[in-house]
Amino acid sequence: MILALEDLNCQIYGCRKCRLWQEAKHGVPGEGPINAEVMLVGQNPGADEDETGRPFVGRAGKFLTKVLAENGIKREDVFITNIVKHISPQNRKPYSDEVAACLPYLNTQINVIKPKIIVLLGASAKDTPRLEGIEYMQVIHPSAAMRFNNMRDKFREQIAELAERMAAISN
Ligand code: URA
Repeated sequence: MILALEDLNCQIYGCRKCRLWQEAKHGVPGEGPINAEVMLVGQNPGADEDETGRPFVGRAGKFLTKVLAENGIKREDVFITNIVKHISPQNRKPYSDEVAACLPYLNTQINVIKPKIIVLLGASAKDTPRLEGIEYMQVIHPSAAMRFNNMRDKFREQIAELAERMAAISN
């Protein structure tokens, strides 16, 4: 199983299935335990993620990590990834053909990790494959939550609800 993800990561690093690799420094497969009960899915890497090859390490990522921690959720315990694995020019939303080209990677990650809960970060994660037996939660994207007060409060409530659901599944 670990090999399956390592192999997938290599495929993502060398991916040429859409145009996005051309301006990217790194493919960003995602990170977290192979047996994570929770998977978080964002849109696609930004500049900091492209630079480091790691998901959600920029401002939005730091905010996400902080709100998770406020609710007793360790970032290292969840699998964090994106629906599209390369940065897009000027951080534009990935086009639908780019999402379609990249989706098989997320599909494999879900099938290997088999999380119990998948958290969709923002509307761009809506095309995440839906599998029977997995709970899906749609929440506000952390970069929007960071910027707007009302969204920040709502986001905090949503992550508190995630913590409750996590407690419920581990009991
Ligand atoms: N925003 C995303 O959607 N994903 C990242 O990895 C970073 C910022």
